[in-house]
Amino acid sequence: MENLVGTEIPVPDISDNEVLVRVKAFSINPVDIKTRLGRGQASRLKEYNPMIPGWDISGIISKTGKSVATFKNGDEVFGMVNFPGHGKAYADFVAAHESHLALKPANVSHEEAAAASLAALTAWQILKEKFSIKPGDKVLIHAAAGGVGHYAVQMSKYLGAYVIGTASALNKEFVISLGASEHIDYEAQRFEDVVKDIDFVLDSIGGDYIDRSLKVLKPGGTIICIPSGANEFVKEKAAAKGMRGETFRVLSDGRNMKEISDLLRDGIVKSYVSKTFAFEEIQSAHRHIETGKTKGKIVVVT
Ligand SMILES: NC(=O)c1ccc[n+]([C@@H]2O[C@H](COP(=O)([O-])OP(=O)(O)OC[C@H]3O[C@@H](n4cnc5c(N)ncnc54)[C@H](OP(=O)(O)O)[C@@H]3O)[C@@H](O)[C@H]2O)c1
Repeated sequence: MENLVGTEIPVPDISDNEVLVRVKAFSINPVDIKTRLGRGQASRLKEYNPMIPGWDISGIISKTGKSVATFKNGDEVFGMVNFPGHGKAYADFVAAHESHLALKPANVSHEEAAAASLAALTAWQILKEKFSIKPGDKVLIHAAAGGVGHYAVQMSKYLGAYVIGTASALNKEFVISLGASEHIDYEAQRFEDVVKDIDFVLDSIGGDYIDRSLKVLKPGGTIICIPSGANEFVKEKAAAKGMRGETFRVLSDGRNMKEISDLLRDGIVKSYVSKTFAFEEIQSAHRHIETGKTKGKIVVVT
């Protein structure tokens, strides 16, 4: 934790296509912790000093570059800034490309909006863009109570799927409340003993979850495995069984953020922010994610 320290730096300059955002809230993701520990995005960012972690922001535009067409000063915006790359979200002011942001719905708080950036974008890009969930698909969401999972359950349900989520017993009611038809307590049952004929698995765990998930997929079914470093051979293992296996990396995308903004505005998707930290408590926020037990999302307010 000694490499996660506060410092004073000048307010960033913006280029012609960027806006300066006065950050009201930012969210923390497991990749932040991996990067702090020298994994995740660390190799890509090692030449930056200081390296400013984080990608998810919600705030108010205080300055616009001269080519910016989408936003104006005073607009409330949110999004995942510059991923993969140097997002610099753990800051009071962030320079963000306009194409990475969307307007924050007025009925959604900055905390809820910041939460619905990287994790929500991951779920949406996988379920809507990459796999295209169809009505009636039987979907298994691992870690359904976590950041990605709690959005993935809501989005899969919205897209018409029959949703099964794995989580501990403590989070059963939560997972069902998000729209899952079935909850599997992964500590009490092996999911492969109780489900079958799955069209699609969203795997946020990796490792042996890949092999075990392949047992419950229908022939021709798909598994997408998202933790980097724990997804080896998912493609090959799936192909050997006549299934589709993919890894995935989320990308900054303002068009997708606008779609998420609409889902939030209409109450179709809600952010569950289980804990809010002050900026000075950033190390505690990292420790919280490190437990692997985060319910929904955690957010830092500036
Ligand atoms: N490739 C990409 O673009 C991408 C994007 C986003 C995230 N990711 C990766 O995906 C992973 C998940 O991210 P996240 O933000 O969702 O993490 P997270 O919010 O920290 O996940 C925490 C959740 O995991 C659940 N969990 C832990 N072990 C479990 C198990 N064995 N079975 C079922 N649930 C379990 C916990 O539920 P209980 O408390 O009920 O146990 C908790 O709610 C991370 O490795 C992250 O780096 C990759």
